[in-house]
Amino acid sequence: MVKGSLSVPPDKAICHRAVLAGALAEGTTRIQPWPDAEDCQRTLDVVKGLGVASSLRGASLILEGKGWQALQAPKADLFCGESGTTLRLAAGMLAGQPFASRLSAAPSLARRPMRRIVTPLQAMGARITGSGAAGDESLPPLAIEGRRPLKALHYTLPVASAQVKSAILFAALAADGPSTVVELHPTRDHTERMLAAFGADVQRKPDGIRIEPSALRSPGEIRIPGDSSSAAFFVVAGLLIPGSEVLLEGVGLNPTRIAFLRILERMGGRIHLAVESSGVEPYGQILVRSQPLQPLTLKPTEVPGVIDELPILMVACACASGTSELWGLSELRFKETDRIASMVAGLRKMGVSITEPEHDAVRIEGGGLTGALVDSADDHRTAMSLAVAGLAAKGTTRIAGAECVRKSYPGFFLDLARLAPPGAVRLPESD
Ligand code: S3P
Repeated sequence: MVKGSLSVPPDKAICHRAVLAGALAEGTTRIQPWPDAEDCQRTLDVVKGLGVASSLRGASLILEGKGWQALQAPKADLFCGESGTTLRLAAGMLAGQPFASRLSAAPSLARRPMRRIVTPLQAMGARITGSGAAGDESLPPLAIEGRRPLKALHYTLPVASAQVKSAILFAALAADGPSTVVELHPTRDHTERMLAAFGADVQRKPDGIRIEPSALRSPGEIRIPGDSSSAAFFVVAGLLIPGSEVLLEGVGLNPTRIAFLRILERMGGRIHLAVESSGVEPYGQILVRSQPLQPLTLKPTEVPGVIDELPILMVACACASGTSELWGLSELRFKETDRIASMVAGLRKMGVSITEPEHDAVRIEGGGLTGALVDSADDHRTAMSLAVAGLAAKGTTRIAGAECVRKSYPGFFLDLARLAPPGAVRLPESD
């Protein structure tokens, strides 16, 4: 069982946006609290490379914004590490700056698709040239010759991606007229909320998200709620493991991020929500108690709303009483690793009957899990999902490469150990 209360780390997605908006804005921005996740540090490094001063004060990050005019051409490559959000959103922001820059990436990110941002940003007038593996001109490192103003764009997203939408919205701040982004399936709206909080004119209209070119002004403080995608691991652990009761406090409850709660409710989970604030980003409490789960059928249109929770939802399906089918998962193949492959391999090793009826689908026979030696495939969400599976399993599970959780949640195993019975979660150094 898992029992107790927990505050998960600040939301990574919101932090990236706060840093980029704070760097473009005039005025001091206090981002509170600031996480120790590696990905957020990468975004901070990018804006430091553009000459933005910052300091850590207690749990807060202070950014001294002086407006976009004060950004300086970087003297070296801006290294994005393994953070896709850093690279894609920064590319949008840099497309609209009147200087050249180069975004570089660690090998795992350098393989992930970038054509999806290069195409619209080039249509806005930026020159972007990749020099990636096998001479692929869309893969990092990306050399960007920014330009101001850019051309306004009317664009329908060919893939449901908040990162692509956000890259265009950041670029559109520097355009010569209003731009519109049309989403066929809604994705997380943190960029729209963040830019509006910094004074941009951005509105969701029936025909798309419309944004006017705008100079940003800092609202002063940006409060970052707990990361709902990190909370999802504990929500599922609380539902699956008999005798559990978990209270998660200060969690982001943005409706575009918590579709996984509705899906778990559809599977029979009883989840109690209490919204405490609905400022820029709503947040509040989530309370779960263990409950038998029914199988799930997930449609492709539901996937963008649970894109980061699919691995842990697969674990929930592995413990449900029947056959689950999840369709339309192709985007999972382009995350830090191919998350269909990493989860199928891990769950199969744990005795689950799991197949891929199509390239973008999985079929999972629920029943139960047996402890095994599994592999994170260097993917933080695979590692954390398999850890929850391991707690729900009979016998001992070992996760190779579990340290990759530092990307989003360095203290994950300590938090899990705190809620689990003594000795149930052992960290490598305690072996
Ligand atoms: C993110 C959007 C999603 C998500 C990623 C973070 C963001 O990626 O998987 O972890 O912060 O905008 P895509 O937009 O590529 O689906």
